[in-house]
Amino acid sequence: MVEVYKLWTLIVSLIVLKLCHWIYQWSNPKCNGKLPPGSMGFPIIGETFEYMKPHDAIQFSTFLKERTLRHGPLFRTSLFGGKVIISMDNELNMEIAKTNYVPGLTKSITRLFGNNNLFLQNKEAHKHARNLTFQLLGSQGLKLRILEDIDHLARKYMEEGARNGYLDVKETASTILIECLSKKVMGEMEQEAARELAHCWRFFPSGWFRFPFNIPGTGVYKMVQARKRMMKLLKETVLKKIESGEEFGEFFKIIFGEMEGGKEKMSIENAIEYIYTFFLVANETTPRIVATIVKIISENPKVMEELRREHAEIVGLKTEKEAGLTWEDYKSMTFTQMVINESLRITTTVPTVLRIPEHDIKAGDYTIPAGWTFMGYPSVHYNPEKYDDPFVFNPWRWTGKDLGAIVSKNYIPFGAGPRLCVGADFAKLLMTIFIHHLSRYRWSMKAETTVIRRYMLTFPHGCDVQISEDTKVEDNSLAGY
Ligand code: HEM
Repeated sequence: MVEVYKLWTLIVSLIVLKLCHWIYQWSNPKCNGKLPPGSMGFPIIGETFEYMKPHDAIQFSTFLKERTLRHGPLFRTSLFGGKVIISMDNELNMEIAKTNYVPGLTKSITRLFGNNNLFLQNKEAHKHARNLTFQLLGSQGLKLRILEDIDHLARKYMEEGARNGYLDVKETASTILIECLSKKVMGEMEQEAARELAHCWRFFPSGWFRFPFNIPGTGVYKMVQARKRMMKLLKETVLKKIESGEEFGEFFKIIFGEMEGGKEKMSIENAIEYIYTFFLVANETTPRIVATIVKIISENPKVMEELRREHAEIVGLKTEKEAGLTWEDYKSMTFTQMVINESLRITTTVPTVLRIPEHDIKAGDYTIPAGWTFMGYPSVHYNPEKYDDPFVFNPWRWTGKDLGAIVSKNYIPFGAGPRLCVGADFAKLLMTIFIHHLSRYRWSMKAETTVIRRYMLTFPHGCDVQISEDTKVEDNSLAGY
């Protein structure tokens, strides 16, 4: 009996020792140099809960502010089960953005994109995916293929909203985006399949940033199931079209053209994953930003008035008032683009440079270890030396600047370097045209509408605008009321 007792004591002691060792290792990770200061938090969960606390969308989170004060602009932590370096140092962010190409995605997100995703594979596949994308979404593609559709859809949904007396901005922007991309990608889709595809999106928004455990009942599990369903739907539609010889959308034509003409063959699975990535990234970013911009405009009457003037003038100059927008019209929406640039500057309170360095990187006295996730925040957007009164929303600060530029050393809402967002111009086009059609009405947003960041932008009280047919601005004679 005494022997058994001794054995148990030994086993328990060994387990406790192992556990202590593991906790020690967790809190003091190995590094071939000096790790940036910081805390790894609790084992596995790290500091995720503090990190994910909701905060004002145009302020960095308390998590970030406190740690920057305590440790300086570079610190370590653990989030979503992984080891993370957070940087508020703009020069370092730019250097890492340019010299590293492995995306810094959490496991739950990688799972969503798929392991064979061209954007996540080797350098060559990634380069190929980007080249292809620029054929689809570069300025030529936008001019020739996209502008007309977004214009048509935005007009249609705005009129529908006006008839109903209200419009859910995020949902409407999402519908426009999905309908536009679906048509370009797949051509006409069976109604049932399109409806089912739209239904699958419902599982994504709340589940993006999660722990990477795929356990039934959890958000990650639901997302993974939704992903499977969506991939199946897309594949079935593609195969049906191939079989029946039915027309594909232009995007697929380009992809298949590439597959036939190019050296590198893309499998149907790869093509579908590639398309799926677009749907996912585009839908999770742009509609939320459109809704945030609309909220900001609603709080700035002078901005709203100037927008109305700009868009009434564009409509007023047309002989046929309901004629579609042209590329020249789009380019002439200067103030709207200033509003968009300023909104992106002030609301980008999330990291925009996400990388996993393949080699250790020296940063002053510190070492950023290979394999850790690097999260670079666009702190430069709030640097008073670069932007006067950085926390004030002032679109006029962009007067005379290059409004077409999606990245500069002081402006990185779309990231930088080899992973710079490939959908930036598309997103800007959609946001501009949305604002154009909205500005043709007198509209308002309820005062209780708030924009909160919980990594993603969220709207706890919804994001409806009140809009009606009676308040449509018919020509430029109404501008400036
Ligand atoms: C306002 C809306 C958007 C914002 C703020 C945004 C922001 C970003 C950021 C910060 C990155 C990472 C860049 C880096 O790590 O250096 C990125 C990458 C990416 N974005 Fe966007 N994005 C937006 C809209 C879109 C749209 C509409 C699409 C697709 C149509 C898209 C497709 C992508 C893709 C595919 C990547 C990965 C690029 C690569 O790895 O080479 N994005 N985006």
